[in-house]
Amino acid sequence: MYTFDGNRKEASTISICIKPHTNVKRNEKKGSFSEMATKLFASLLLRSYAGRLSSRVPQIPSHLRIHHYGRLPLSTTASNDHHLGQGDDNQEDSNPRRQRRRSLLSVPGSDRRKIEKALKLQNQVDAIVLDLEDGVPVDKKEEARELVTETLEKIQDLGAGSAEVCVRINALETGRLALEDLQSILPHPSLQAIVVPKIEHAADIEFVSRLIHMTTTNTTGSRQETRPVRILGAIESARGLLNLEEIAKAGTGRSSLPFQYMDALIFASEDYCADLELIRTTSAKEMLYARSRLVTVAKAYGLQAIDMVHIDYRNLVDLQQECQEGREMGFTGKQAIHPSQLEIIHQTFIPSKRDIEFATRCLQEYEATTLTEGRGACVVDGIIVDAPVYKWAIKILKQGGDHNGL
Ligand code: COA
Ligand code: MG
Repeated sequence: MYTFDGNRKEASTISICIKPHTNVKRNEKKGSFSEMATKLFASLLLRSYAGRLSSRVPQIPSHLRIHHYGRLPLSTTASNDHHLGQGDDNQEDSNPRRQRRRSLLSVPGSDRRKIEKALKLQNQVDAIVLDLEDGVPVDKKEEARELVTETLEKIQDLGAGSAEVCVRINALETGRLALEDLQSILPHPSLQAIVVPKIEHAADIEFVSRLIHMTTTNTTGSRQETRPVRILGAIESARGLLNLEEIAKAGTGRSSLPFQYMDALIFASEDYCADLELIRTTSAKEMLYARSRLVTVAKAYGLQAIDMVHIDYRNLVDLQQECQEGREMGFTGKQAIHPSQLEIIHQTFIPSKRDIEFATRCLQEYEATTLTEGRGACVVDGIIVDAPVYKWAIKILKQGGDHNGL
């Protein structure tokens, strides 16, 4: 038995002390088994500790070196404050194929006119969600499925526009309805993502993932090609929220599934309120915990976090406020039910001009200070800029670059 004393706070003062336990015989020869085991143990501990340390040092992506900053366009949002600590989707770096989803516009699958309208809005929306679930009356489910399938075919013929084409299926608990939805839409190459509503268990994601895999994977000899269809999972109940981590694990390959299709978690406020018998207020304080938990789990598993619908859809002032709050909480996008909501959503879910300017100065000052003066922090506009703020600034500038196609 040996004792280990590692000071984990100071990188410069790691000390490991290995003392033979009193039971170890004093006359053991050098090179004996216990000595080798001691060395091995110490080297493993050091290596794992060094790994943890190096993973904490913020790395500057090469495309964000100072000489590139001049190219960052200054996007607009009216009067944002600095959002220190606001997160980005970390996974964007490791998943360059990830679709940008600031806005998801819901379109009733039974309403031809609205579907046509939505397809004309391609440049104003990031994702169009053709709805087969609660936006469709019960007696129009089949009609809606046919119309949505027809729309997927039409999109296939016309070629993909800039917006992502998604379908919201009926909840898995409906059984036959959900299965028929999946059977109808999955074979269509123009389908890009499935919104799975009312997810409550990891098994829901596993089921849909297996179906996607079976339907979209083509194996010829040793070669396997999978048409990318993503899952956007909606959390709408207390049970769904409680099981959220297992759900995220199942969708991102941290469970037994060999394939991962999940890209985003969606918070569905109205069903959530109904399930918990919450009293809906304009401040939405009754959903603070749920929204915050969803963002936390999404970020922990590299998923996008999509905020609730603003149901008072004609009230654009309150929409602006709700968007701002959602972004401050770490959401990466928001659902919409009316085209008039899109512009405000898009303007909010990008870094503001003020954020970008501040982040640029933070980066320049911090790099100059740490590199030339050897200090770990500097001050910009009266705010201390240390390693976490530097990390925030990198993310803001990356988001600014991504949203402007850089
Ligand atoms: N998608 C595409 N187009 C839409 C739209 C939507 N979600 N909502 C409205 N429009 C269109 C209308 O068809 C209309 O176009 P037109 O002038 O070419 O006919 C235009 O935008 C203005 O619509 P407006 O008259 O203001 O709204 P409305 O009374 O027709 O519809 C709602 C209001 C709320 C019923 C409608 O926006 C809607 O159905 N939203 C989706 C609801 C939904 O999906 N709920 C479930 C998910 S939470
Ligand atoms: Mg719902």
